[in-house]
Amino acid sequence: MRTLIRNAVCVLPNETRPASVLIEDSQILAIDPSANTAADEVIDASGLHLIPGVIDDQVHFRDPGLTHKEDLHTGSLACAKGGVTTFLEMPNTNPTTTSVAALHDKLALASGKSVVNYGFYIGATGENLAELQAAQRTPGIKIFIGSSTGTLLVDEQAALERIFAETTLPICAHCEDESTVRANRQRIEESGGFTSHLDHSSVRDHAAARIATARAIDLAKRHQHRFHVLHVSTADELELLVEPEGLITAEVCPHHLFFNINDYERLGSLIQMNPSIKTKADNDALFAAFVSGRIQVIATDHAPHTLEEKDQPYPNSPSGLPAVENSLALLLDQVNRGNCTLERVVAAMCDAPARVWDIVGKGRIEEGFDADLTLIDLNLTQTIRNEDQLTKCGWSPWHGVTLKGWPIRTIVMGQTVFADGKVRADQHGDEARFDHARGGYWAVE
Ligand code: DOR
Repeated sequence: MRTLIRNAVCVLPNETRPASVLIEDSQILAIDPSANTAADEVIDASGLHLIPGVIDDQVHFRDPGLTHKEDLHTGSLACAKGGVTTFLEMPNTNPTTTSVAALHDKLALASGKSVVNYGFYIGATGENLAELQAAQRTPGIKIFIGSSTGTLLVDEQAALERIFAETTLPICAHCEDESTVRANRQRIEESGGFTSHLDHSSVRDHAAARIATARAIDLAKRHQHRFHVLHVSTADELELLVEPEGLITAEVCPHHLFFNINDYERLGSLIQMNPSIKTKADNDALFAAFVSGRIQVIATDHAPHTLEEKDQPYPNSPSGLPAVENSLALLLDQVNRGNCTLERVVAAMCDAPARVWDIVGKGRIEEGFDADLTLIDLNLTQTIRNEDQLTKCGWSPWHGVTLKGWPIRTIVMGQTVFADGKVRADQHGDEARFDHARGGYWAVE
């Protein structure tokens, strides 16, 4: 099967220009094939841009065990609608993904349920070193250095030292310092107790984020272990991210770019997240770090909970918000506002995650790469509505927000999974492949 995408402005690795892209089965066969090339299907993409499919390296799809919030099928449909062609999912499911057997079970589950491509981290427990050493078919190891949703936590220094010293897979971590969080919580409880969701940002404050990120980077440097800082939330952490040796990468999420503590009054628990959202000054510093490249990756930390769960008073309301079907549009809107370039968005959402996690054949529009592609209309204006969301939890913290610039067609391994406003639920994505000998983000390709 050959598909020819004609007349799109393509964001290629080194230039953005009008080009034709010929797909054969699941791969990109040629950029600008000869004019008389035959194809089974021709997509006229005049007026549109073609980018590599988005790779979201941090989602929580709740499958197995918490599937009333989301499952691997509904989460993947939300991806398809959002222009996301590959997701990497976190281990805090039930059971947790903390053994090779659980990892393989999840991969098998996804093969029957996911319409986009997938990969799964293996979670560290402090007692599962042998599993972390044996795991393959994974982007890497996830450590909750601070506790969040679920039971996973590795806080003891000796256990962390062992993981960084005795494993070889790349590591990423949730960095909020557990003792700082506990002390903050106790201080607020003793001085009158919690009064609103604003307290969440005092419990999980700037110091908690900075201390844990510094601790993790220290471990990575001493053990010369590749390390990715998940969801950076403060300006304070940015100065820790200067790493000449090519060991450390970092990511920021849309909620830490676009929400701050002033939004609690309007949105309450809907923006209760771990790490917590911070200040407008943090928003601005994080956005600048994305633009400059100090932060390499944008990912969502898509973490669905039902509105009923979210409606409980603080601190019983769970932390997490859904974002995977709107993240690309949120950033394309910033392109339209002149705040960043389309190329920078593609670098952070498509190319960088593939390089950080050594994903084979993805993240670029290049001959021989997988045909994971997203067509975008930079002139399309749409309003996000809870009732239109495909995530099973059925809401978005951006409900009512109008954005200019949207994905309109998503192609996964050569198959269209989203077009004309509809997802094609009968398609299947593939297991992403990881080649950790490639050397990570800074490796010369
Ligand atoms: O707010 C959060 N929710 N942060 C995390 O790291 C986990 C997530 C979840 O799984 O609900």
